[in-house]
Amino acid sequence: MSQRTQAGSGVIDLDSYWMPFTGNREFKANPRLISGADGVHYLTPDGRRILDGLSGLWCCGAGHNRREIADAIAEQARTLDYAPAFQFGHPKAFELASRLRDLTPAGLDRVFFVNSGSEAADTSLKIARAYWRQRGRPGKTRLIGRAKGYHGVNFGGIAVGGIGPNRRLFGATLETDHLAHTLLPENTFTRGQPAYGAHLADELEELVALHDASNIAAVIVEPFAGSAGVIPPPQGYLERLRAICDRHDILLIFDEVITGFGRCGARTGADFFGVTPDIANFAKQITNGAVPMGAVVVKKEIYDAFMEQGGPHYMVEFPHGYTYSGHPLACAAALAALDLFESEGFDRQVAEKAGFFEDCIHGLANHPHVLDVRNLGFAGALTLASYQGEPARRPYEVAMYCWQRGLYVRYGGDTLQFGPAFVMEKSDIAEMFNIVGDALRAA
Ligand SMILES: Cc1ncc(COP(=O)(O)O)c(C=O)c1O
Repeated sequence: MSQRTQAGSGVIDLDSYWMPFTGNREFKANPRLISGADGVHYLTPDGRRILDGLSGLWCCGAGHNRREIADAIAEQARTLDYAPAFQFGHPKAFELASRLRDLTPAGLDRVFFVNSGSEAADTSLKIARAYWRQRGRPGKTRLIGRAKGYHGVNFGGIAVGGIGPNRRLFGATLETDHLAHTLLPENTFTRGQPAYGAHLADELEELVALHDASNIAAVIVEPFAGSAGVIPPPQGYLERLRAICDRHDILLIFDEVITGFGRCGARTGADFFGVTPDIANFAKQITNGAVPMGAVVVKKEIYDAFMEQGGPHYMVEFPHGYTYSGHPLACAAALAALDLFESEGFDRQVAEKAGFFEDCIHGLANHPHVLDVRNLGFAGALTLASYQGEPARRPYEVAMYCWQRGLYVRYGGDTLQFGPAFVMEKSDIAEMFNIVGDALRAA
């Protein structure tokens, strides 16, 4: 018998949609539909208002349904719906690239457009390998990620990614290694960046000793690990990684898909931590989640290497790109979203409210089942004690309680994750953690 649910005045059939990163059987037995949004709330078909605890999926920091973004998309759809991304261009893609150059750290100057964080990851890895080939060092192919890292779901991204369940169904990928993760037992309940753990960056020296730098193309890390449950880097760790990469001519890639454009309380993770990578990947917040888009921003020297080796001037220098790279609707949405970012000062807003957010989330430290609390900027996570042999069950149960109480919380592995909109008022932040506190007591 097909599974159906009431949605407003109609009934919808749930069978056909194979939902991403979802327990399909559980969802279809217990549907949680979202049919509208308003500011920092979602609306359900039965008229409930749900506080959005993760800005969608870390992507709607400006709040939902921003009129400025909606108008820009509508206007663009009436003016130029699509232009070929290959061999021809449209003005807004160039305008947006310049804007991203100006908003990202000095030195990151050339912008390649993609449609998601996963495409950004694979694009950055391809750029890294091809760059060394252009520079006459084709042996530099090995890619290094980090345990607990998340770089999306495409083959390059899962090869360097460090979340086991995302890899194990898919067999062999690329030649990769992984640095150890930085979630140390010494650092539980640390507020912000832990003081201890910078030495973990030295593992890169060991991998250099093992493989030789002449075989290593790049290291990719998130400035703070997001999807594994908000793991801020130990103080000095990213600086040390940068120094080792410099010493051995290894490209450093920051996956800023969550950290970019406000989440840390700075323009980018690179700005917040004071470490500039050679390549930075963005997505999510670029368009405030309204239209899919990602961007890979590289140092000019990297772009120049491709131009210098490009052959006759009419030849393609980098055989890579997507039909929807720099899509006009995405560019229009991004320009409007970045206008809001600047005019409303989202980085400043987060920096101002981050202390309050930190106090609220650490207020849960003594609640039942809580094994760890971590936070940075407007990002935080709880690690919860597992049921015997069922690490993912308790966060799921807590999140379901929250949903019933009018709060959307992301649950993943043994964690609950929080990433409110930058515009969320303190009263809503307090309300969010009150509900979670009740949920933990009830669990
Ligand atoms: C750091 C990071 N990289 C890549 C991705 C993948 O992005 P997408 O789901 O848009 O492909 C994500 C998504 O959460 C992410 O957090």
